[in-house]
Amino acid sequence: MRRLIVLKLGGSIITNKKERFSFNRDVVLRIGNELRSSWPTPIFVVHGGGSFGHPIAEAYGIKKGYRRPEQLKGFVETINAMKKLNDLVVSALSDAGLPVIGISPSCTITTNDGDIETCNFDPIFSAMDIGLIPVMHGDAVFDRKLKFTILSGDTLASYIARKLKAKQLIFAVDVDGVYGFDKETSQRFLIEELTEKVHMTVKYESTEGDVTGGMFYKVEEALAAASYGVEVYIINGLIPGRIEAVIKGQKVVGTRVKVT
Ligand code: IPE
Repeated sequence: MRRLIVLKLGGSIITNKKERFSFNRDVVLRIGNELRSSWPTPIFVVHGGGSFGHPIAEAYGIKKGYRRPEQLKGFVETINAMKKLNDLVVSALSDAGLPVIGISPSCTITTNDGDIETCNFDPIFSAMDIGLIPVMHGDAVFDRKLKFTILSGDTLASYIARKLKAKQLIFAVDVDGVYGFDKETSQRFLIEELTEKVHMTVKYESTEGDVTGGMFYKVEEALAAASYGVEVYIINGLIPGRIEAVIKGQKVVGTRVKVT
């Protein structure tokens, strides 16, 4: 039976995207308490880069791969900034009483032209086997073709949900879900059920300062997981109670992503 919940914490909720290296500890602590209330559901946490990962990755053009030696500094700095953020997330979740362990993608995952090619599941399975909650994140990683690139937390969370046959994949972001636009009334409305067909009609806003592409790519990853039988939700992680409610199977404000 599928039980695992994969929770992606968006960089927009765990950091202040407008201020470099600003960590929203209160938000992570509160989410940690919600996860504790959902115990004993098995959980896997992935977080984004926010104001720790994106600015450096963008300044050095890390996503497009290796072109000049000066980028090496940016590649390593991106990894180091993500390690720092991961430490902060892990310590806040641990203070909320969760048995968490940070696992770094730069050491466990390699990609090929941006797609995950190898993932060392040994530390992940060994941690989960003794009841530890892995906390992974978007990161700069080695890439077979590009030499290095950026692996987004969304891609990683969807991959983990598929490989580990998760029950749910929850993307916690700073908005209520995916919005559509009604041309007749000129009003935005929350899309409660998002299928591939609806996805093709949505006008996604441009994503300045986000090297991994924002909501459009999040939905692509969401659909990839949904096609493997995972229940996928995009919900507002800044509103207390929503993460806990969705894990408990209650109906919450948000977008459910489905294949058909
Ligand atoms: C980005 O991960 C990681 C780096 C830029 C190093 P995400 O793409 O998952 O980050 P957020 O959630 O958009 O901030």
